[in-house]
Amino acid sequence: MPDTPQLTDKVAIVTGGSSGIGLAIAAAFQACGASVMIGARDESRVEQAIRDLSMGTDRVGGAALDVRDPDQVETFVTQTVKRFGGLDILINNAGVGGYTKIADQSLEEWRSIIDTNLSGVFHCCRSAIPHLRRRGGGFIVNISSLAGKNAFPMGGAYCSSKAALNMFSEVLMQEVRYDDIRVSYVMPGSVTTAFDGGRAHAGSDWKMTAEDVAEVVLDIVSINRRTLASRVEMRPSKPKK
Ligand SMILES: NC(=O)c1ccc[n+]([C@@H]2O[C@H](COP(=O)([O-])OP(=O)(O)OC[C@H]3O[C@@H](n4cnc5c(N)ncnc54)[C@H](OP(=O)(O)O)[C@@H]3O)[C@@H](O)[C@H]2O)c1
Repeated sequence: MPDTPQLTDKVAIVTGGSSGIGLAIAAAFQACGASVMIGARDESRVEQAIRDLSMGTDRVGGAALDVRDPDQVETFVTQTVKRFGGLDILINNAGVGGYTKIADQSLEEWRSIIDTNLSGVFHCCRSAIPHLRRRGGGFIVNISSLAGKNAFPMGGAYCSSKAALNMFSEVLMQEVRYDDIRVSYVMPGSVTTAFDGGRAHAGSDWKMTAEDVAEVVLDIVSINRRTLASRVEMRPSKPKK
């Protein structure tokens, strides 16, 4: 693999690309020459991210997007293809948390987590796959979590959404691999982001950074054609004891 992967002429969608891990992935792709479309619900944060990422190029675009809405997703994918001429890479990163005991969980919170973290990925894949096929293949990378295999109390909706996302990714991987579409899922442990309203704070330097996850995603989409890194677990090398 070259030191700096080349993604020139590639077009990528990064959902949840306005902050944290998604923003870092979009920045890494932009730096490697790709055209990138980012989508998230808060339009002003999307616009700010486009300004931060563009660096004088016209290869970064975006729009308000709620992945829970299949019509919005379809429009977003169509816009991407219209603007950049096709689609090669879909990064399903948009996700929400919420930690409540199952017995106390509101229907609203349950639905929001499952609809975003699982159904949102389904909507994006369904809209993107015909375009990936048209390009002769591509990549789908789903940002899951170690919470998809490690249960913990108050993680009923979140752990379930990510466990289901892992299985979804495995099924899809088998369904589209002969179309040269390579499907992967990445399961990070603790990453310093604003996830769940948290902030980077003193004493959290043991966590991974969003850029660490972006580096792995970049490796996944730059690997040789023979190989598919279908499932990647990543965790802080020295977690707090
Ligand atoms: N941070 C961690 O420790 C960690 C660990 C493992 C896995 N992950 C996963 O990594 C992914 C990114 O999380 P992060 O840590 O980078 O958190 P983050 O900074 O809160 O970013 C989440 C992004 O998703 C967007 N988003 C949320 N709901 C959306 C929706 N319905 N439609 C479109 N966009 C939506 C958010 O923007 P809007 O709110 O404006 O929509 C934001 O851009 C998530 O899937 C998360 O589960 C995080």
